[in-house]
Amino acid sequence: MTILDGKKHSEEILNDIKNQVEELEKIGKRKPGLAVIIVGENPASKIYVNSKVKACEKVGIYSEKITLPENITQEEILKEIDKLNNSEKIDGILVQLPLPKHLDEEKICNAISTKKDVDGFKAENLGKLVLGKEEGLVPCTPQGIMYLLDTIKDINLYGMNAVVIGRSNIVGKPIASFLINRGATTVVCNSKTKNIEEIIKEADIIIAALGKAKFVTENMVKEGAIVIDVGINRIDGKLYGDVDFENVSKKSSYITPVPGGVGPMTIAMLLNNTIKAYKGKGV
Ligand code: GUN
Repeated sequence: MTILDGKKHSEEILNDIKNQVEELEKIGKRKPGLAVIIVGENPASKIYVNSKVKACEKVGIYSEKITLPENITQEEILKEIDKLNNSEKIDGILVQLPLPKHLDEEKICNAISTKKDVDGFKAENLGKLVLGKEEGLVPCTPQGIMYLLDTIKDINLYGMNAVVIGRSNIVGKPIASFLINRGATTVVCNSKTKNIEEIIKEADIIIAALGKAKFVTENMVKEGAIVIDVGINRIDGKLYGDVDFENVSKKSSYITPVPGGVGPMTIAMLLNNTIKAYKGKGV
């Protein structure tokens, strides 16, 4: 069993980005810039946003953290986005999800300029991924997962059975697109899927992204499967993935830990997308 070390790989990516930013500065160019909007007091969101801003500081990317109150109106947040869309310092804009219930997430994410959509959530960017174009602004977590899979020597997804557990717009749907593009026979499950254990047992690759601590257990996993754990479940202050790591790791060929697996890769890919947006490669 090999652990896919997201922390290590993300540090390599951040180092590479740091070098790119230094090169830009040497030739007198402005720094790439990322704006992160957070609304309200969701404690998990606060942690994620702070990690994103810290990562920017680490590599020399200019960042703006915009903290808005829980009761902000739709119009006010759209005005903020408009300002950032027109800012010459900002290449990427991210609105941390989930938003408070009275706000329309889809409308707000769609207000972000397509070329600054570093989350890759807009139809234009997600659509390109579905059509097989992977070099644009593609969602960060799926991009990070693909990076980790590509670190496996001689991996060829063509003909592999992949099972994605969870069908979110942020992870489930875009990672399924990546896997389909690479020729994996891809099944996307949800909480009502019948015989889910048997389906997971057929998988050569399991992507667990449903948000239930230790949902994937040893008895559901085929010997030698590759297991990617996207879950971040906080219980009494401790972090658990969607996979029972201790027992599943005994059967898997490769597995990502929580923490230190997919999480740091998501942040690395966000900065990667910010560089892409800066270079105008987003669209
Ligand atoms: N909430 C959970 N994951 C994400 C993400 O990747 N991007 C944003 N904007 N919000 C999230």
